[in-house]
Amino acid sequence: MIKEKILVIGACGQIGVELTLELRRIYGGAQVVASDLREENELLKGTGPYVSLDVMNKEMLHVQIIRQNITQVYLLAAILSATGEKNPNLAWSLNMQSLLNVLDIAKDEQIKKVYWPSSIAVFGPTSPKRNCPQHTIIEPITVYGISKYAGEFWCNYYNHRYGLDVRSMRYPGLISYKSEPGGGTTDYAVEIFYDALKEKKYTCFLKEDTYLPMMYMPDAIRATIELMEADASNISVRTSYNISGMSFSPKELSAEIKKHIPEFEIIYEPDYRQPIAESWPQSIDDSVAKNDWNWKPAFDLTKMTTEMLKNVK
Ligand SMILES: NC(=O)c1ccc[n+]([C@@H]2O[C@H](COP(=O)([O-])OP(=O)(O)OC[C@H]3O[C@@H](n4cnc5c(N)ncnc54)[C@H](O)[C@@H]3O)[C@@H](O)[C@H]2O)c1
Repeated sequence: MIKEKILVIGACGQIGVELTLELRRIYGGAQVVASDLREENELLKGTGPYVSLDVMNKEMLHVQIIRQNITQVYLLAAILSATGEKNPNLAWSLNMQSLLNVLDIAKDEQIKKVYWPSSIAVFGPTSPKRNCPQHTIIEPITVYGISKYAGEFWCNYYNHRYGLDVRSMRYPGLISYKSEPGGGTTDYAVEIFYDALKEKKYTCFLKEDTYLPMMYMPDAIRATIELMEADASNISVRTSYNISGMSFSPKELSAEIKKHIPEFEIIYEPDYRQPIAESWPQSIDDSVAKNDWNWKPAFDLTKMTTEMLKNVK
């Protein structure tokens, strides 16, 4: 049996650090090559191989994939929703070209599996707000959402045209404490814990009643690995799966934090991220993921808040 050799691109980001550590736990440290433009993250040091890699440099990427005998690729490099609005050309070019580079090399080198995340940002103001279905109207208003939606169809195309086993899910906002968020519209739900513990108050960039789909990072990591380990015959969606964890507003999150820190105060100063948040659904219907590969989240708002406060401390 050929041993899997996995390349994680964008391994020093919010998801990459935790996903790399979990993949190394499962497959062995030496079997998972972490790569990023940035310096190696402290938490990754000493846990397995690290290479400095720009995913936009297709030749270098190709060389690494051949040299390291890579059998699976996880592509996490991207520019996220809020940062993307500050530099739309860069967001489009990185988010699209990185994916096309990986898909093309994966096809030529017969890579066994590719993982590429999409986002709830594919949805726009015309999508249903509650329990947004897998198949629905999708008219994104951010460059990030446009790039993710286009990317989903490239994944579908490479699967149908070339038989490439590429898998994807639409992450909601991800809440974590091991590595920092990278410029998304849901970052408030991470920042709030640091400020609550340190300052006992937080200035929120979204309005108090802005409901958004969210997920605690351990659920997102488990979902990713469960999707990648599912039998290929069970994967009916080759664009990207809806997945859901929890939904809450800043007001509800702050009420939950107050149960632990009664003096905690929140004030609201909505900025350019408010219209982005308002264009997204408030909750997601993930019944197709549940049916196809038995997805089930483990964390709700109460459990996540308790864990975050304990770990951020
Ligand atoms: N974090 C979330 O809440 C969230 C939600 C939905 C979807 N996603 C998606 O998940 C993926 C990972 O997100 P994240 O939050 O970890 O992002 P992040 O910004 O924290 O990390 C991305 C990493 O990619 C690296 N990178 C950027 N350009 C690169 C390049 N040219 N070559 C190599 N590496 C490069 C960055 O240095 C960074 O370490 C992205 O596709 C993102 O769109 C994230």
